[in-house]
Amino acid sequence: MEKDYSLKKINSFGIDVSTNYYLPIHKSEELHTFLKSDLNKTLPVFILGGGSNVLFTGDFQGVILHAQMKGIHLVSETKDHCMLEVAAGENWDEFVNYCVEKNFHGIENLSLIPGFVGASPIQNIGAYGAEVSDVIAKVNGIDLSDGSSKTFDTSECQFGYRDSIFKRELKNRFFITSVVFNLFKKANFRLDYGNLSEEVKSLGDITLKNIRLAVINIRNSKLPDPLVTGNAGSFFKNPVISTDLFEKIQKEYPQVPSFPASPGFIKIPAGWLIERCGWKGKTLGNTGVHDKQALIIVNKGNATGREIFDLSEKILKSVQSAFGITLEREVNVI
Ligand code: FAD
Ligand code: EPU
Repeated sequence: MEKDYSLKKINSFGIDVSTNYYLPIHKSEELHTFLKSDLNKTLPVFILGGGSNVLFTGDFQGVILHAQMKGIHLVSETKDHCMLEVAAGENWDEFVNYCVEKNFHGIENLSLIPGFVGASPIQNIGAYGAEVSDVIAKVNGIDLSDGSSKTFDTSECQFGYRDSIFKRELKNRFFITSVVFNLFKKANFRLDYGNLSEEVKSLGDITLKNIRLAVINIRNSKLPDPLVTGNAGSFFKNPVISTDLFEKIQKEYPQVPSFPASPGFIKIPAGWLIERCGWKGKTLGNTGVHDKQALIIVNKGNATGREIFDLSEKILKSVQSAFGITLEREVNVI
């Protein structure tokens, strides 16, 4: 356990804040020991992974539990499938690369998403037509309220678009220690998102490696590298609106992009709404909106978490007044 520990290098916004106490968790026993301690009874705790979907608005007055468990284990294998249990502290993209190298299909579209495996079920990470819930078999962890071990199978995780039970009622209460993935050994390609198919074809044959490379190329062309420019990916979720409201917007903007949602509803890109409100590429003090993707708020230097949050509030208000749509933050504000 370390005291007054800087979080600057472990949050992708690069916000210069610290925590009263920092405890890396390499194995479950360390968590059990902490749960019995006086600190656990007196201070708030926060579970941290790679820090790529959090915004600290000030120093954390409590204990940060940092998932650091490592390991990838084969659980079972058939002719068509392969089950792998992966520890929470494994780097997500290194795991994707591992699967592509081994010819395990199912997560190649999720290449280059920052963060750790343990956080992947939290908001059900998704990109380029795939969601991690498509391949999650089980989520294992420890309930911080009583130290009990629990396993959730897919149906119990209540997965949705950028959503799960772990992001709602179990938020910061259930420490995910490992995730079990059910991957395919045969081709199961999804290439229908945006220009993915063309990008893959420009690289040659449709193979796992080329899909991974194509996704990486597309992402690098529009998303800022957090090691260079602090950010946490999309700051807001894409809103799901009624078809009535959509048709109203479409009358004024015939080109408005959209994605199908449940019957009577349509999902539209928040980045498009934010761009229409004039925010794309704008700088405001130490903060700004990325010039290639309006859904991404960036740290232009030494921004505080409060400054980032204030910019998000301004964007939210302008989208609300221009379109009558209330955006929901995707990033976890602390
Ligand atoms: P953290 O930021 O550390 O934590 C996120 C939340 O999960 C917090 O509430 C935390 O308490 C909780 N948490 C973390 N680990 C655990 C655990 N072991 N047990 C319980 N709770 C835990 N996301 C997408 O879905 N799709 C994208 O395409 C995408 N692109 C991105 C691009 C960039 C450049 C960046 C910076 C981010 C992007 N993200 C994307 C967001 C982010 O990478 C994901 O949400 C990722 O899963 C966060 O992982 P993390 O380990 O960094 O989690
Ligand atoms: N668009 C604009 N202007 C912009 C940005 C987007 O008009 O500045 C419009 C364009 O029409 C574009 C469409 O929005 O075709 C979709 O854009 P993009 O493919 O970049 O995806 P997104 O909807 O902005 C979502 C996820 C990303 C994920 C990509 C690719 C959310 C909140 N974001 O972004 O996830 O990588 O799709 O699948 O769903 C993240 O969650 O952090 C994240 C980066």
